[in-house]
Amino acid sequence: MGKCPDCGTWDALERYCEPKVGSAAGAESVAAAWTSAIAEDECGAAGGSGLARRGPGSVAVRLADVERAEVERIPTGIGELDRVLGGGFVPGSVLLLGGDPGIGKSTLLLQAAAGLAAGGHRVLYASSEESAYQTRLRAERVFTSDAPDPELYIVAETNLARIIEQARKVRPSVLVLDSIQMVYKGDLDAAPGSVTQLRRCCTDLVYLAKVSGMAVALVGHMTKDGQFAGPKLLEHLVDAVLSFEGDRHHAYRVVRGIKNRFGTTLEVGLFEMGGHGLTEVLDSGPTANLTTAPPAGSVPCPVVHGTRCLMVEVQALTAPGFLGSAKRKTSGLDGSRLAMLIAVLEQHGGLRLGDQDVFVSAVGGLRIVEPAADLALCLAIAGAHYRKCLAPGVAVVGEVGLGGEIRHPPRLESRLHAAGRHGYDRVIMGPITSAPPGAASRVCAVRTVSDALALLDPANPSGGRPAQDHPAGTAASI
Ligand code: TYD
Ligand code: MG
Repeated sequence: MGKCPDCGTWDALERYCEPKVGSAAGAESVAAAWTSAIAEDECGAAGGSGLARRGPGSVAVRLADVERAEVERIPTGIGELDRVLGGGFVPGSVLLLGGDPGIGKSTLLLQAAAGLAAGGHRVLYASSEESAYQTRLRAERVFTSDAPDPELYIVAETNLARIIEQARKVRPSVLVLDSIQMVYKGDLDAAPGSVTQLRRCCTDLVYLAKVSGMAVALVGHMTKDGQFAGPKLLEHLVDAVLSFEGDRHHAYRVVRGIKNRFGTTLEVGLFEMGGHGLTEVLDSGPTANLTTAPPAGSVPCPVVHGTRCLMVEVQALTAPGFLGSAKRKTSGLDGSRLAMLIAVLEQHGGLRLGDQDVFVSAVGGLRIVEPAADLALCLAIAGAHYRKCLAPGVAVVGEVGLGGEIRHPPRLESRLHAAGRHGYDRVIMGPITSAPPGAASRVCAVRTVSDALALLDPANPSGGRPAQDHPAGTAASI
């Protein structure tokens, strides 16, 4: 069939044959091969086998009787990656790293492999996309030391059976497979990257991780709409899914947890791609210029990513469009949130944007997923529309409700600290009852969006400064 009878998409159907030998049997064979190989070699457990499935696991016991064990971690030495992983790779677990082509997945995992090897953990880097020579060239470019660590092994291979065979010989603590879409199992009559191959290869690798205790890191391709290529099963099977995001035209790259059985998915790791690979970004964002006002439509906002608070510049542009078909485009921000804020600005701020195209973006390639940037976005749009700017050294934070009221986002204190750290001496935010403890910046509190819009006036030298004179009488400053 050319058209999927379920969702109506054309050319979406792929041939899938249920293998004659049950897939579970295939996976069991990996387990059997591995355990017998270990027995033959008369060696103990390979790597830390924190999660290794050994012994009779199929007897029901009380949950309270299950022994508690600390999850072991193998740190990569790359702080930004370790934090997203929850402290490092977990022995016996499988990680899937996805991202657009050319975003830096191979570079990140090669650097992580080097970090692991430097920490005394043996790593096998299986490259199914590049030759060993190409990987060596990349290593020369990104490694800080002259010669790669002797604990770092490489195999350029696309046949999964041979990769597993090499893993059995090398006995690494961590196996990196770049990428899962390019490996195949010879006994299947399907092309690499097809549903059948992905399903079977991934199942085998998960069993391999469980029986051997090695941590497996897989690179997965993304489709153009940001989904993992292949069946969702891949994401279900693995223990952690990380997404490597960023704009190829920006230097910033963000590692974000999508699923993590051994840690939080709230953390992000920030990197910058340079001539010598990825470097960690410990703090980012615009710093305040206290003498010159920022351009109209540009508003700095402290945004929380996991345990970190980063300053992000929110920008907006309005341009004449056509009534009824005006464009609303976002880059790094949520499109439906933008539509809601435009409606709030029209209803409660007095703006007329029906015939205006509105473009908004988060500068630097970071994605803002929280509503704490609502007020900054409103002021950026209104500023761009009226060609008005905020006073120098003013940052903005606050969530906007449908009634135009401004609320405090969570973790306000750390946001005020971040603003202060970047030199912003005033922060426009929602109403306060007492001074936030330890705030490094002075606070300019406003109750509604229209109160906040009144602070956008270049002619008024106190714009963003103490706002008691504001007619609404609701603003207060400390
Ligand atoms: P790569 O890790 O190959 O991406 P992926 O595996 O996600 O496809 O990185 C590709 C891009 O990164 C490539 O376009 C060049 C750039 N790059 C640098 O800018 N500096 C470097 O040191 C390296 C290794 C790559
Ligand atoms: Mg690659």
